[in-house]
Amino acid sequence: MALVAGIDSSTQSCKVVIRDAETGALVRFGSAKHPEGTEVNPQAWWDALNIALEEAGGLADVAAAAVGGQQHGLVALDADGEVIRDALLWNDTRSADAAEALIAEYGGGTDGAAEWARMTGSVPVASLTVTKLRWLADAEPENARRVAAVALPHDWLTWKLSGAARLEDLTTDRSEVSGTGYFDTALGEYRYDLLARALRISEELARSIVLPRVLGPREQAGTGDAVRGWGHLVLGPGAGDNAAAALGLGMTTGDVAISIGTSGVVSAVSPRPIQDPSGLIAGFADATGEFLPLAVTLNGSRVLDGAARMLGVDHAGLAGLALAAAPGANGLTLVPYLEGERTPNLPRATGSFVGLSLASMNPNDVARAAVEGLLCGLADGLEAMTAHGVPVNSIQLIGGAARSAAVQQIAPTIFGRDIQVPEPGEYVADGAARQAAWVLSGSDAAPEWTTSAVQTFSAAPTREVREAYAARRHLFAERG
Ligand code: XUL
Repeated sequence: MALVAGIDSSTQSCKVVIRDAETGALVRFGSAKHPEGTEVNPQAWWDALNIALEEAGGLADVAAAAVGGQQHGLVALDADGEVIRDALLWNDTRSADAAEALIAEYGGGTDGAAEWARMTGSVPVASLTVTKLRWLADAEPENARRVAAVALPHDWLTWKLSGAARLEDLTTDRSEVSGTGYFDTALGEYRYDLLARALRISEELARSIVLPRVLGPREQAGTGDAVRGWGHLVLGPGAGDNAAAALGLGMTTGDVAISIGTSGVVSAVSPRPIQDPSGLIAGFADATGEFLPLAVTLNGSRVLDGAARMLGVDHAGLAGLALAAAPGANGLTLVPYLEGERTPNLPRATGSFVGLSLASMNPNDVARAAVEGLLCGLADGLEAMTAHGVPVNSIQLIGGAARSAAVQQIAPTIFGRDIQVPEPGEYVADGAARQAAWVLSGSDAAPEWTTSAVQTFSAAPTREVREAYAARRHLFAERG
């Protein structure tokens, strides 16, 4: 029995699943925490990966491995392959001004945004790597001058697993590179002119910076580090976490996943690239050779964490309160842009309760408004997808908050469709494991692994809740 390892290096932790390459059956598991914060020394990811690997019984009997990782984080390397500064993560908003400046430099406003969507598939927001490079050039020019290679978290971890020391051995995949902001996702080519623009250097100089080689969906990234006894290990190209989750869920065209973890993500497999000039949808690629348009909110499960804290209850308690209230929370709306927001692009916004009255000023309605507000933000993302012709046949709800009874039961009222909730699982790590098995098999299609049982939730749509949210969401959201 050949074994494969799937690694999920996420914002909060590192998880490793070891699975049977043929059936997908889970054999072993390990995990380790990552440090808090939006700026992290990549060494901490490497240390956590090694702890998680050890807990999962190591790689000695494992034939192939692949890494799924949090997207966009900037891992800048110097000529010796050393990390120049702590990585700026996807949820670090200090490059919001840089995003605006980059749009302004290509015509500004809707023209500039449309140009970026055309050039790369996405309109820059603070999450994208290109804006972090501009921030580096302006805030830390000494560090910017030392940049000899730019990798993303999963690229760097794959490189570390291989034990390679040469920058030229860095690899990435389509899903990850499509989120950098210096890659033409539709054409599949790096845009060194945009890298140059971000770093305020000439295109010639930008071409001397090493960018990871972009591998195809089942192309081998190399082998494991022989010095560590991993020389037998086949390495897969890896993927961004959302693309890895799509692979883990077995998503194909028409399938939508709504993941509510630290971020809230609406993603769909599309056979064609999406270029949304409004910036609501990021036109990324998936891990199978198709595309994976995404709408991402910064305020995911923490909206529920905050509401539970405010009401002095745990998550089950919050769900009980929300389900005891009537739809619409007696006219109360929570616009949950608590930590600024990415979709819509309001990096300096704060949240607001709107419509508070004596009738709604009670724990049940506050809890209901929190759940409805969280879901309305995601429903806006889904609506933007359908407006761009992305096919939507089924919706699966995953991530920590998908375990909330209130989220499960209220989601169909807000999305106006049935919602499927698969068993809780490590879908990012599973997708990475499935990719590793695919690379190992050498066949054209990814192995068919049995998918987990799903529970379906249906309810009558409450259109008026969406309408109230739509009327109120921008009332107090300052651009700053
Ligand atoms: C996607 C994004 C987040 C991170 C979370 O664009 O920024 O979903 O990948 O890990």
